[in-house]
Amino acid sequence: MSAVPISHDAAALNVEMLRRDFPILSRRVHDRPLVYLDSAASSQKPRQVIDAISRYYEYSHANIHRGVYVLSEEATIAYEHAHESVARFIHADWDEVIFTKNTTEALNLVAYAWGLQHLHAGDEVVLTQLEHHSNIVPWQQMARRTGAVVHYIRIDAQGRLDLEHADALIGPRTKMVSVAHVSNVLGTINPVAILGQMAHAQGALLCVDGAQSIPHMAVDVRALDCDFFAFSGHKMLGPTGIGGLYGKRQVLEQMEPFLYGGDMISEVTFAGASWQDLPWKFEAGTPPIAEGVGLAAAVAYLEALGMPAVLAHAQHLTRYALEQMHQAPDIAVYGPEAEARGGVISFNITDLHPHDIASVLDHCGVAIRAGHHCAMPLMQVLGVNGTCRASFYVYNTVGEIDVLMEAIGEARRLRRR
Ligand code: ALA
Repeated sequence: MSAVPISHDAAALNVEMLRRDFPILSRRVHDRPLVYLDSAASSQKPRQVIDAISRYYEYSHANIHRGVYVLSEEATIAYEHAHESVARFIHADWDEVIFTKNTTEALNLVAYAWGLQHLHAGDEVVLTQLEHHSNIVPWQQMARRTGAVVHYIRIDAQGRLDLEHADALIGPRTKMVSVAHVSNVLGTINPVAILGQMAHAQGALLCVDGAQSIPHMAVDVRALDCDFFAFSGHKMLGPTGIGGLYGKRQVLEQMEPFLYGGDMISEVTFAGASWQDLPWKFEAGTPPIAEGVGLAAAVAYLEALGMPAVLAHAQHLTRYALEQMHQAPDIAVYGPEAEARGGVISFNITDLHPHDIASVLDHCGVAIRAGHHCAMPLMQVLGVNGTCRASFYVYNTVGEIDVLMEAIGEARRLRRR
């Protein structure tokens, strides 16, 4: 395993060096060097993560919690270590971390297992206008089943939450406030701790969709005082197929399981069943063992870089890209200034369709996402059908943003055709 490049200076990731850890970055696309600007959809993986998964399959794979032989014991230790790694990363206890398939499954777990148990007719769930579908649709469905009502905190013209509106919406009928930590479209970093205080003052819980925050910033679930925190592994240098849900112990202990089956039971008779302790009560069936090993390696990689340096790098790139885009009168940028956002920029170019722009960029080797970004209600608020979205991570460079801007110049030629 190659060493992880260490930097504790928030202003200086050693990007040239760490890029060598990412084999895919040496690829060419359409005979151009790959410029990967879609990490908000899924990040690329360093050699350390790929090697950890391969080594696990080559040396230690077996099912966990089931065998009294060496391989099973090694696999069990590795999988439990993955819970400890993630728990350390977000300042939780290891058994408050439940592994799921991804953020979406984690949010569904909360909506089904907590929502069906606690929501009743007339209760209120407060979301925001900038949520991803995964933090809207499960709540809408639970509201349909229970008679609860969903409200949405407005955003202002800069894409920030209107906290006066939040204060007005969060009241005695509110049972749950569920909000993105960082918007996947606008990049807005939301004041989730303040929303938590508003929620708790009314006896409601706070659920944080951390899919876009955990890759970029230090997360302390105790400091945020959130009741749930959902995230994905694949956006934070880890493999696909694993994500997680942190829940406060007392909340998780009172909840019924979400999925039923093997490994989540304490005892089963023909008459019924009782449940395992946390976190296994919520992890039915064979879990994502290799993915857990890979996620632990990703956490180790990010810890070695230092999260202040990771965030500073994304904001440095975002500031640079925004400066370039603000100089172009035909580019409309959505969302706040760099200080208030993570490494995400959504934009449109006058008279060009986002998919056409993304297609020209692809031919220049530049990968961005175009469309509604699984946030159709937010598109309605912005008054657009879709946007182009460039998103930055630890391996991106200022030079790549120059390539992006050159490629945008190529896309402008579409207007003359
Ligand atoms: N949620 C991911 C994104 O925003 C897929 O692109």
